[in-house]
Amino acid sequence: MHQLDAVSISRLSSEQVIIDVASAIKELVENAIDSNAKSVTVQLSKGGLDKIVVTDDGSGMDQMSLELCAQRHTTSKIESYDDISSTLTYGFRGEALASLASLCKTFEIASKPHNASCGYSVSYNDKGQPIRTQKVAASVGTKVICTGLFHNAPVRKEIHKKNKGAMAKIMKIMYEYAIVHPAMTFKLLKNDSNDANFVKQPLADHLDVLANIYGPNVADTLEEVTHSADVPYTWSINALIPSYGTDINLCSCSSDQRIFLYVNKRPVTLSGIKQIVVNAWRHSSMNSSRYPIIFLNLTVPPNSYDINLSADKKKIEIEHQDQICESLKTIFGDFYKSIPKSKPDAVSETVQISSQTVIDEQGSEESTVVSETEDQLEKKNPKEKSNESVFKEKKRKKEISDATQNKKKKD
Ligand SMILES: Nc1ncnc2c1ncn2[C@@H]1O[C@H](COP(=O)(O)OP(=O)(O)O)[C@@H](O)[C@H]1O
Ligand SMILES: [Mg+2]
Repeated sequence: MHQLDAVSISRLSSEQVIIDVASAIKELVENAIDSNAKSVTVQLSKGGLDKIVVTDDGSGMDQMSLELCAQRHTTSKIESYDDISSTLTYGFRGEALASLASLCKTFEIASKPHNASCGYSVSYNDKGQPIRTQKVAASVGTKVICTGLFHNAPVRKEIHKKNKGAMAKIMKIMYEYAIVHPAMTFKLLKNDSNDANFVKQPLADHLDVLANIYGPNVADTLEEVTHSADVPYTWSINALIPSYGTDINLCSCSSDQRIFLYVNKRPVTLSGIKQIVVNAWRHSSMNSSRYPIIFLNLTVPPNSYDINLSADKKKIEIEHQDQICESLKTIFGDFYKSIPKSKPDAVSETVQISSQTVIDEQGSEESTVVSETEDQLEKKNPKEKSNESVFKEKKRKKEISDATQNKKKKD
């Protein structure tokens, strides 16, 4: 019996945090959002195995933080374990940069904080220690450059190369953060070129982002459900789910790829809650196999859940979850029981699900998704333009009706 050496310990835990290119991107995008960035750009070369570059315009780091940040268990987000119960940042374990340093051939970060006259670029060794620091003319924010991910883990590299769903997983991660942060700009650029895989400019709300990703005719099938309560503690939900009776081909698909669940804006696996909404929709649509599009953000006090259960922090245990689930069963059951105020316009089954995204039966999305400006839409075929106009018109009408209802409530 012997204790493992430090390098082996570090490699073993790194490979748990960064299991593939998608998880590397997830960690870097989360760091950008935690730094209050307004914009995050991810650039990939050879699917990310050759190079991943993530650039943000957030708070940046000074030279000292930059030289420390890639060492294991180094974080600016909590002071001690007890702070986990009050933190709302995505990160807090101080593991991601250290893991990337140990799994990449080269690892470099350039950063400049708001008030600094110049930025610094630091290269790290596989232990996350700085090996070279240079002054650079950087813009405010941070740029992380990883090359040769898994160069020292050939089996994992091979698995990633063969994994047909790798790009779909990366897209899903970009969508997850883009949908829950409508005001931010997100870009995923592929293969060193400026070919946009996914570009989302700042938008007004979650529904607009879903329209941007899946097309306005898909977003048009969704309706907002909100609820708040004070028992067992103060909690609320904000959801977008298919309206009663909408075209099944538009509002659902054969996999759960279009289900987006969050707790306090953190993408999580909430299988119990997911099943409640899926069952309610399936019951109303008399379909037992398809999955509806769902966006659902559950807001709960930060001390009412434990997120430190899995390396990717997607597994979550919520206090009194059974009680919340009972309420949700009633809310979504009632939503689909109520007679629709206006049954949505009948939409032809042949209408394209989205001009931008194609889902195959295995649920992997092969996408070329580009955010479109009004000008670009003008140039598209009249049907798509009219769908966009219908979506905007319906949204405008809904806003007017909500405002009228709020006014009535106040009166
Ligand atoms: N994009 C970024 N902008 C500003 N600071 C960053 C960025 N990425 C990482 N950092 C800093 O480096 C620290 C370590 O990052 P990381 O290893 O991901 O751990 P964690 O996010 O859990 O704190 C962060 O706590 C933060 O202070
Ligand atoms: Mg982090």
